Parts: sequence; structure tokens; C-alpha cells
Amino acid sequence: MARELPSFDAGRAPVEPGPLFVDWLLWALDAEVPDAQVATLSTVDSDGRPDARMLVLRDVDAARGAWWFAADADSPKGRQLAATPWAALTFYWPAQGRQVRLRGRVEAEGGDRAAEDFHGRSPASRIAALVGHQSERLADAEELADAWDRAAALLDREPAAVAPGHTLYAVLADEVEFWQGESGRRHVRLAYTRGHDGTWGRGLLWP
Ligand SMILES: Cc1cc2nc3c(=O)[nH]c(=O)nc-3n(C[C@H](O)[C@H](O)[C@H](O)COP(=O)(O)O)c2cc1C
Repeated sequence: MARELPSFDAGRAPVEPGPLFVDWLLWALDAEVPDAQVATLSTVDSDGRPDARMLVLRDVDAARGAWWFAADADSPKGRQLAATPWAALTFYWPAQGRQVRLRGRVEAEGGDRAAEDFHGRSPASRIAALVGHQSERLADAEELADAWDRAAALLDREPAAVAPGHTLYAVLADEVEFWQGESGRRHVRLAYTRGHDGTWGRGLLWP
């Protein structure tokens, strides 16, 4: 049976993509789409080979066109972003048949803002970050259990501790595409592009 999908009147879309993204995200959250705030982050490694993984969107600055996520600067993705500070984020909200793709330059922010983000996390999430070594080869489960206990003890002694590599990253989008699926396959695609003067243009794409 065809799914009931929302209609998308691209002609009435706002002049900038940020508010439309927030509108679609809130719609997905309201509809209890699982992990609505989770996206695929794509980066490239030093050989120009693509890499991708899921992560949680931490914030959106709709006015600035900045999408924020948090990660360890010492992880593969952190090193890839240090060498090539460009990335793409891809969201998919199946219940609404909606995809949003965006890409742009990436800025990293450590310091107070990253510390504030860190302190807002659950103890388990802070311990996991303090364990570190993300994506390095692990000998066995016991090695992780020991590192976990040490990180938990550190957090007990120093509740304000922040994982050294904890970093907030902003994708400063210069391209954002909204894809609205349609049960008859006449999908609607609206692409926003940011010009050199910072203003946004927009237009439809063939599906
Ligand atoms: C639903 C979900 C949410 C995740 N959220 C994050 C996140 O917010 N930050 C993060 O660094 N990794 C997150 N991860 C783990 C990453 O997908 C990835 O495994 C890890 O960051 C290592 O990636 P890297 O080796 O490319 O650096 C999440 C994974 C899943 C499945």
C-alpha cells in the first residue's frame, strides 16, 4: 500500500535553507521518527577516499547555516577533517519520505563551547569519550573494561574533566538539498546554493 507522504510546495519554501531544515526536523521529531537527529557524516581521507559514519546532530544555527556535531579530534574523522575541512551530512526521515543533503566547509571549536557540550552529557557518554582511542584496534573486551574503569574513576575524582579531543564541528553549508518523496515517484527536489556574497539562491532539480 502506498504511504501517505506530506506534500511539499517548494514554491512556498523560505529564502534560506536553515528554517526549512528546522521545520522538517521538528516534523520528524513530532512524528517520533527513530533517531530523527542522526545523520551520516561523510568526509574524505588523505588519499581522497570517501568515508562515512552516523552521528548525532547537536545543534543547528539556522541564521548562519551551520549544522553542529561533536566528535573526538583524535578519531579518524577528526584527523580527516583537520586535513580536509569539508564534509557532507545526510538525513533521512522515512515516515515522511524526506531526505536532506548538505555539504560545506567545516570549522572546529574546542575550548569553552566544547567543554559545555561535554558537561551536558550523561556520565556514561562522558566516560565513553574519556576512554578515547576511538577506532583503534582493541585487543579484547577486558582491555576496554579496564580503560572504562579508569575513565569512570577519573570522572569520580574530577567531575569537571573534559576528554582532551572533544570538539564541536560546524558544517557551514553552501549547498543544501531537500528531497520530498511522492508515492507516484514524482519526487520534489529543492536545492539551495550559497553564493560568494553569502546570499542563498534556490531552484528545483529533476527527480
Ligand atoms: C546512531 C549513532 C549515533 C552516533 N553518534 C555519534 C556522535 O555523535 N559522535 C561520534 O563521534 N560518533 C558517533 N557514532 C559512532 C560513529 O558512527 C563512528 O563509529 C565513530 O565515531 C568512529 O568513526 P571514525 O572512525 O570515522 O572516526 C554514532 C553511531 C551511531 C550508530
